Amino acid sequence: MNVAAIVPAAGSGVRLGAGVPKAFVELAGVPIVVRAVQGLLASGVVDQVVVAVPEPLLAEACALFAGDPVLVIVGGQDRTTSVRRALEVLCGAHGRERSAGPEGDGPRVVLVHDAARPLTPPALVASVVASVAAGHGAVVPALPLADTVKRVDAVGAVESTVDRSALRAVQTPQGFRREVLQRAYAAAGESATDDAGLVEALGERVVTVPGDARAFKVTTAWDLRIAELLLGEESS
Ligand code: CTP
Ligand code: MG
Repeated sequence: MNVAAIVPAAGSGVRLGAGVPKAFVELAGVPIVVRAVQGLLASGVVDQVVVAVPEPLLAEACALFAGDPVLVIVGGQDRTTSVRRALEVLCGAHGRERSAGPEGDGPRVVLVHDAARPLTPPALVASVVASVAAGHGAVVPALPLADTVKRVDAVGAVESTVDRSALRAVQTPQGFRREVLQRAYAAAGESATDDAGLVEALGERVVTVPGDARAFKVTTAWDLRIAELLLGEESS
């Protein structure tokens, strides 16, 4: 089965504040985006990767991935635009027409995976792909919440304690049958933080597989420090 992965890596990393776009910040000597792509390829189930990067870093990114089954493109102003551009490159602007048959051109499965999740275990990637291969149109890795969750008003006063037993924090890679993701993006507005959310907006079913704590997103300097410590443990 042909599986492609889209890696949005075109953000600027404002909350990390490293002075360079987050995906290009080095983690124990290797850029975050390189670690994320290596994890995808190490799963053994991903055939090709499209990485969306900030325009000024296009040449640098191409050099980083020379020799790998990785295509580098310029991303967009927001994550949704970056993913949309990668999807168009993967499937063609008229991918829906071309893929009318079950054996249509292009990948059968598309993963979307944040560059900012550099320690995602390859086994999690394989488990998402296996769930799509088993017949699900949209699959997200999800974890239960550890903390008690409160709903608050505009000034931060607690209104209620939310029953968290039915809540999940979702991660990436999120996996889709290609035509499901294409329909979701065809119908999407300007911006969404989560690709599965666009599938939900179509009224289609999204299922979860167990997530993994190591697939956490590097957002702040604290997260980067945790990632460094975890890598240090692995290599010692
Ligand atoms: N992303 C992207 N294109 C954008 C914005 C974000 O490809 N225009 C990517 C990021 O590179 C990241 C993923 O989407 O891999 C998740 O976004 P986030 O963690 O918010 O990263 P940044 O937008 O870079 O960080 P910040 O919001 O702190 O600026
Ligand atoms: Mg962002």
